[in-house]
Amino acid sequence: MKANNITVQYATEEHVKYAETICKLIYESALQRGTGIARRRPEYIADKMTGGKAVVALDGDRVVGFSYIECWSHGDYVATSGLIVDPEYRHLGLAKSIKDKTFQLARERFPYAKIFSLTTSLAVMKLNTRLGYVPTTLSELTQDDEFWKGCEGCINIDILKRNNRQRCLCTGMLYDPKWDKKQKKASWFAPYWMAFKNRLSSIFHVK
Ligand SMILES: CC(C)(COP(=O)(O)OP(=O)(O)OC[C@H]1O[C@@H](n2cnc3c(N)ncnc32)[C@H](O)[C@@H]1OP(=O)(O)O)[C@@H](O)C(=O)NCCC(=O)NCCS
Repeated sequence: MKANNITVQYATEEHVKYAETICKLIYESALQRGTGIARRRPEYIADKMTGGKAVVALDGDRVVGFSYIECWSHGDYVATSGLIVDPEYRHLGLAKSIKDKTFQLARERFPYAKIFSLTTSLAVMKLNTRLGYVPTTLSELTQDDEFWKGCEGCINIDILKRNNRQRCLCTGMLYDPKWDKKQKKASWFAPYWMAFKNRLSSIFHVK
């Protein structure tokens, strides 16, 4: 399978015809992994597409990957969810392209929102880390009840409930756009600070 025939793009109404296939892909891979999953209906997926909140990967006329974003806590948080790659197209770097595009979409549409992800997938943890997410306790994620209702279909829901939504088997990962600004400020300042420190140590011979 060659990855260079595949396009990864923002979804629009022209991709609604793929909603059913995407639901099937998500459901079948959840069964295979033995994890519970928030089961999405085709209408829900279609809604994300027409609302400009989804990313789709196509190989010609075949849908081979998908993900979407969803806003929570009145826009304070955005979750990237529903990442799926067709089993025949895995290990080609497709999830990376979809994740990058979804992250870009979230930053463009909700520049001040914290972006989070809840996952048991090592692949997703790696990709999130490269985008600047850090692992966190679930208490740092949105407390919007509607979001957590999505976990109702998971086989581990009893663990989540028993721990008052503070801990579960999924790892919570968070990206805060404020960190970026701080880093930019720090990197602007760093060379001047280093030069100043070097000058001081050469005058006073301190290390
Ligand atoms: C998880 C999934 C999206 C990965 O898709 P993919 O296109 O094969 O991933 P990529 O090729 O972009 O790989 C991204 C990174 O993850 C790693 N990776 C991919 N699959 C992996 C796996 N099963 N276990 C561990 N690491 C994995 C890759 O090696 C790569 O890391 P590297 O850059 O250090 O080599 C895909 O397996 C899938 O759809 N799984 C079922 C649904 C799912 O688990 N979704 C996530 C729900 S949170």
